[in-house]
Amino acid sequence: MLFSATDSFAAIWQTLLHEIHRGALDSKHPFRYLTLASTGKQFPQVRTVVLRQFGADLEFLVYTDARSSKVQELLEAPRVSLLFYHPKKQVQVRVKALATIHVEDELAQVHWKRVSEKRRVEYQSKLGPGTRVEAPSLGWEASLEHSYFSVLKFSPLAIEVLQLAREGHVRIQFDLASGWQGVWLVP
Ligand SMILES: Cc1cc2nc3c(=O)[nH]c(=O)nc-3n(C[C@H](O)[C@H](O)[C@H](O)COP(=O)(O)O)c2cc1C
Repeated sequence: MLFSATDSFAAIWQTLLHEIHRGALDSKHPFRYLTLASTGKQFPQVRTVVLRQFGADLEFLVYTDARSSKVQELLEAPRVSLLFYHPKKQVQVRVKALATIHVEDELAQVHWKRVSEKRRVEYQSKLGPGTRVEAPSLGWEASLEHSYFSVLKFSPLAIEVLQLAREGHVRIQFDLASGWQGVWLVP
């Protein structure tokens, strides 16, 4: 368990932030991966992404290729949901957030420097993500001249946490509007 019903809102909030922060730092932590949901043209779209940083302003940072469908979707509809699940601690975290896309700006440059040489090709494919190809190998061709690296920044408006527990599940909503004070919800 990450927290229990007898903990204070302030303690639960700090524990939660600490755990998300750990997810961004530790590649083996379950919060390292999150589901990013966006509004697609015909369907809601979900996909797994890596949490690269959880900042002091509670912003969630994710790297992607600027040509990917998600970037277009976020440009058209920046309201997203993020989903985390910790199977051992039986905790689910749902985040409502606003997305901004950073390409070739200061934030993108800072993070590009952190991407190892080996991994940079992931943002340098000749063809954009989702392009139809005759064979998989055609999708691996990279051009080192140009990078499509971008940083997605998700600024949260609300964070909801659900702790499963035998003695009773616990669900709490934290809102930016209320200064991140918690309220209990029926699970
Ligand atoms: C474990 C895992 C981690 C992933 N991490 C990322 C990531 O950090 N950034 C990313 O753009 N895609 C990542 N992907 C791929 C996405 O899930 C998705 O397939 C791809 O980005 C295309 O999505 P889109 O067409 O909605 O833009 C990851 C996939 C898996 C399975």
